[in-house]
Amino acid sequence: MSHLFHPYTPFSAIQAGNFPHIVRGEGIYLFDDQGNRYVDVVSSWWACSLGHNHPKIVQAIQQQAGILQHSITGGMTHPTVIELAETLSHLMPTPDRHVVFASDGASAVEAALKIAVQYWYNIGRPEKKALIGMDQGYHGDSLGALGVGFVDHFHEPYSEIITHTAKLPFPQPTPTDPNGFEPSRTIITAHANHLAAIILEPLCLGSAGMKMYPADYLKQLAECCKENEVLLIVDEIAMGFGRTGERFAHNHAGIDPDLVCIGKALTGGYMPLSACIIKDRLYDTFSNLGCRDGTFYHGNTYAGHPIGCAAALAALRIYEAENTVANTTEKAATMRDQMKPLEQRSCVKETRFLGMIGVVELHSQYADKMPHIKYALRQAGYLFRPLGTIIYLMPPLIISIDDLTKAINALADALPSE
Ligand SMILES: Cc1ncc(COP(=O)(O)O)c(C=O)c1O
Repeated sequence: MSHLFHPYTPFSAIQAGNFPHIVRGEGIYLFDDQGNRYVDVVSSWWACSLGHNHPKIVQAIQQQAGILQHSITGGMTHPTVIELAETLSHLMPTPDRHVVFASDGASAVEAALKIAVQYWYNIGRPEKKALIGMDQGYHGDSLGALGVGFVDHFHEPYSEIITHTAKLPFPQPTPTDPNGFEPSRTIITAHANHLAAIILEPLCLGSAGMKMYPADYLKQLAECCKENEVLLIVDEIAMGFGRTGERFAHNHAGIDPDLVCIGKALTGGYMPLSACIIKDRLYDTFSNLGCRDGTFYHGNTYAGHPIGCAAALAALRIYEAENTVANTTEKAATMRDQMKPLEQRSCVKETRFLGMIGVVELHSQYADKMPHIKYALRQAGYLFRPLGTIIYLMPPLIISIDDLTKAINALADALPSE
């Protein structure tokens, strides 16, 4: 018996056993200890956008490991973290930014939430301390992240110790409110006096089941936040680095967020590294040079870890040099064209698409069929991870059109026939 406590894995699944023991990765494939090859259809929890074992990232990791393995960023610095902070700042709509590094998505979110609260404290408005997320939003599993998250099924045991001020409803467009924004406006204006920040997943709520909303909602939200003196934190941890067809999902809305959280595909999924990128307007208030100490007393041991930073720099160079994001346009169109007809199957409630995300949602009565569908796909060589009755493709961005087509065909074959 393994001593491993598997995350997000019910005991019934452990009891059923038969987990793949993955021993190697190559491109879009993972290989198990039995020699079986699987397509990593969900990019290993949405991180491995560039596939596995990319020689340039592996080389960057090896090289950095031979030079400097770790050095902290508290009161010290090193060349790799400096270069990465500068590169990331210049990927933002405006480059006047500083970057706080962390090791995983949740810890980048924690930093963002605390920076938002401390910013208002630093400028003498401590009453602005509330944080609001979106209904069904997900930002990680630490307690702070749960406070702005609303995938209730995950959070129920902790509900007594989590304080939710309010939540923005998931946008429901209507003829008079085409982006479904007006209910959010009502909440923001009602709470503006004590609201520090709003955090949300841009354009697609991943863990809620790839629920998508219009870019213009985000645009209206950014304007409303500005009007009401509320900071906007955009959580690009799942959607960043090309997943939605733009480098960042917020680029679709043409907005300039105050804080941006990134992780997962930042290193191509090769090292645990995340970051929160903040505007200098906020950063400048964290000074102790006046009469008050505004220092940010927050950090992680591995913040700015040299090997992680080297992996991220290598990944960022690949995204640019190989035109990874622009090259997804045709693949995304293929995915849509080939998956949309699945709507004609009686088991399918709807399909939806955004960049390199393709979703087939089955009717709720198929819930008990999901383990079987997942297993059939695995037998066919595809590692899917359905969310309830939602089956989605979020493959490495480098997947070929041919492999994409094969994956969609496998999915079509695995769906219930009636
Ligand atoms: C939007 C979003 N934010 C934050 C997180 C948390 O990231 P991590 O699992 O690296 O802590 C996730 C993870 O799926 C996510 O999708």
